[in-house]
Amino acid sequence: MKTPVDIAVTGAAGQISYSLLFRLAAGDLLGPDQPIVLRLLEITPALEALNGVLMELNDCAFPLLHKIIVTDNPKVAFEHVDYAFLVGAKPRKHGMLRSDLLSQNAEIFLVQGRALNEVASRNVKVLVTGNPANTNAYLAINSAPDLAPECFAAMTMLDHTRAISQLAEKCGVATKDVKNVAVWGNHSCMQYPDLHFARVKGQAALELVERDWFVNEFMPIVQHRGSEVIKARGQSSAASAANAAIMHMHTWIHGTEEGDWVSMAVPSDGSYGIESGLVYSFPVMVRNGQYEIVKGLDINEFGLERLRQNQVELIEERQAVKHLL
Ligand code: NAD
Ligand code: LMR
Repeated sequence: MKTPVDIAVTGAAGQISYSLLFRLAAGDLLGPDQPIVLRLLEITPALEALNGVLMELNDCAFPLLHKIIVTDNPKVAFEHVDYAFLVGAKPRKHGMLRSDLLSQNAEIFLVQGRALNEVASRNVKVLVTGNPANTNAYLAINSAPDLAPECFAAMTMLDHTRAISQLAEKCGVATKDVKNVAVWGNHSCMQYPDLHFARVKGQAALELVERDWFVNEFMPIVQHRGSEVIKARGQSSAASAANAAIMHMHTWIHGTEEGDWVSMAVPSDGSYGIESGLVYSFPVMVRNGQYEIVKGLDINEFGLERLRQNQVELIEERQAVKHLL
C-alpha cells in the first residue's frame, strides 16, 4: 500500500468543493492506487455544513480515502501538504465583475499564503481558484517568501476547456481532436482566447473557421461564459470549475500531452513582454512536475494588443491591493 498523500482544499463546504472533493476521493487526481488524506479548511461558521459533507464522503466508503481532517485553521489544513486547492472565497453574483470581489477576498489569500509559507511542503503545488484568481495568486505568492513563486498558479483551465468545447462544436469534431488552444492574460472578460495556433485534427483552426466567427462569436462566448452560467443557474459554475481544477493539477503533476499545451496563469518570467511576477495566463507545457511557458510564438498585432490590455488590467488589480502587502 502506498503512503497516503495529503491534499488541502479550502472552501470545502462550498459548491465547487461539493464536486471536487468526491472526485479527489474517487482517485481522479492521483490514480486508482494512491490513497489520500483530505485536509479540509472552512471558516468557523461553515464547519457545521462541512460536517454534512464529511458524513457524505464517509458514506461513499471510498477505498482511497485514508483520512479526512476538518479544520478552521489554515496551518492545520496546509501542514506538509503537497497539493493545495485554494477554492474558498466569495463568488460573484449576477451583474458583478470578478474584480469586484478583490476587496472581500484579498485578505484570505494573504493569510493562506503566510500559512503555506510556514507549514506546507517546499514542493507544494498551490492552485488558486477563488476569484479574482490571478491577483489572489499574486497575493499568496507575495505572502510566501520562502516558497518558490513557481509553487503557485491560478486557474484559467476552465477558460481553456470552454475554448476547446466551442471550437470542437463549431468544427463538428470531438474535443480530443482540438489541440493548442491558448488563453492569455487575466481570468476576466478581458482574457484573450486565442485560436492562431490551434489545430483541429492537425489542421490550422483558422483555416477551418471564419475570422469573423473567431473574433465576434468565439471570443465573446469564452470571455463571458462565467457570467452566462451565473445568469442561467443563479450561481457561478461549480462542477465545471471542479473539473478544471482537477485537470489543471493533474496536468501539473503528470505533464502535457506530446505536441499539446494547456493554459495556466503563472508568474510571468517576462515572456511576450509581460511584466515579471504578474500572474498571467500563458500556454504552458509541463514536464516532470514543472510548468514552462511556451516561448517564441509569433503573435500578431491583434493578439499583442490584447496581451497588453490584460497586462494593464492586472497591473490595476495589483495596484488596488498593493497596500495589503
Ligand atoms: P461558495 O460560496 O459556494 O463556496 C465558497 C466557500 O469558501 C464557502 O463555503 C465559504 O465559507 C468558504 N470560505 C470563505 N472564506 C474562507 C476562508 N478564509 N477559508 C476557507 N474557506 C473560506 O463559492 P464557490 O462557488 O465554491 O466558488 C469559490 C470561488 O471560486 C469563488 O471566488 C468563485 O468566483 C471562484 N471560481 C473561480 C473559477 C475559475 O475558473 N478560476 C471558476 C468558478 C468559480
Ligand atoms: C467562471 O469563470 O465561471 C468563474 O470565474 C465564476 C465567475 O464568476 O464567472
